Amino acid sequence: MLTPTQPYVDYDDLIQEDPEFGFRINHHLYKDDEIFQQEMERIFYKGWVYIGHETEIPNPNDYVVRVMGQRPVILSRGQDGKVRVLENKCRHRGNTVCQEQRGNSKFFRCAYHGWVFSNTGELAEMTHPSNYGERMPAEGTMNLLEAPRIDSHRGFIFASLAAEGQPFKEYLGRAADYIDRYCDLAPDGEISLSAGRHGISYRGNWKMQLENLTDAYHAEYTHATALAAFAANSSAGKGKFTDRGDLEDQLSTQRDLGGGHAVLDGFALNRAQGDKLRFTGSTGTLSEEIVGKIAEREGSREKAVWLTHGGGSHITVFPNLMILWDAVRTIQPVSLHEAVIYYHPAQLKGASQEINTARIMSHQAGFGPAGFLAPDDMEMFERTQAGTVSDTDPWIYLNRGLSSQRIEKDDFGVDALTSQNLGETTQRGIWRHYKHVMSGE
Ligand code: FES
Ligand SMILES: [Fe+2]
Repeated sequence: MLTPTQPYVDYDDLIQEDPEFGFRINHHLYKDDEIFQQEMERIFYKGWVYIGHETEIPNPNDYVVRVMGQRPVILSRGQDGKVRVLENKCRHRGNTVCQEQRGNSKFFRCAYHGWVFSNTGELAEMTHPSNYGERMPAEGTMNLLEAPRIDSHRGFIFASLAAEGQPFKEYLGRAADYIDRYCDLAPDGEISLSAGRHGISYRGNWKMQLENLTDAYHAEYTHATALAAFAANSSAGKGKFTDRGDLEDQLSTQRDLGGGHAVLDGFALNRAQGDKLRFTGSTGTLSEEIVGKIAEREGSREKAVWLTHGGGSHITVFPNLMILWDAVRTIQPVSLHEAVIYYHPAQLKGASQEINTARIMSHQAGFGPAGFLAPDDMEMFERTQAGTVSDTDPWIYLNRGLSSQRIEKDDFGVDALTSQNLGETTQRGIWRHYKHVMSGE
């Protein structure tokens, strides 16, 4: 395994903070294979990663296949009802044992030589066992390997392939408040990701999406066409959606939550503007149906209005989970130069079918394969990757908002490093944490 002491990769050298030039990162972070391999080990195999949602596997024997880093796994709710993350790797010759994306099965049968594993991981049947003679593997030694740590928060399941390490609660940190708020916008206080997912791949490094979700700066330019189209059809008022002033509003903030987690916080702006579309953005959450149901749940109409008019936010949970508007997204690194983004429409439990259908339609319009928003970002990621070939100046400076950022109480009354939304406070937070993890600190 690679170690941080190897002279070739020095993360102090690649991610620098200095009073003279501010904050800068070296573009080798996007194009060096050794770095990619170290990321898999240190971020995706040692640390906590988001793996799936409980509503994707609600019943005994339900499963979905996932990839942790580059390792294929099965998120399985066993016959015993317990959720496990099993390595999708036969203990005979190492074939993947489950090829379907999702399903319901008590067993996974390896197609190569027919070994059968239960969905709790045990080797249930070995074909022609007598041929092993006295070399027969001992009972229990050929079970599917299982992620030693698994935990969840509001239905979001995370796992770690390392037996020991940072406790889950500490890892999730301040991201928990923002996940809670997103779920609180559902009448039952829960979301469902049972509608399925689609993936879009791009030829660029996985970290480009990690940085992009809390980059409000790009929206006006990268998504100019979509914003113009939305404005033309917006009940919030023609042209309002593309007002430069909205992005420059001081109530529109971005926050570094620590631990690599970051957020675009539109709560205050949404409440101030009675926003119908911008960062509130969760279809249906301003409807009387939802406000009324939440008022009933909370026992207070005032609280319901405060919650729903604040809306959701753009949340990045390091390293691979993003939550915004009508959907949950995951980042799947494929190789140094390729990643897949999976999109899961988020349904509101307790809401009418009409609202949940509208949410899927709205999500599709923006982030479907022919959506108005997702392809714009992918194109930018590919162009950024193309630019890394030129080594003349390898530095990328992330100094926006650096001189004006401050510690400020967020919507939960907790101090957070904050700047105006057009800054790069969130990117700096992500990179600071990345450096911490990659340096093995
Ligand atoms: S590789 Fe799975 S049974 Fe041989
Ligand atoms: Fe974007």
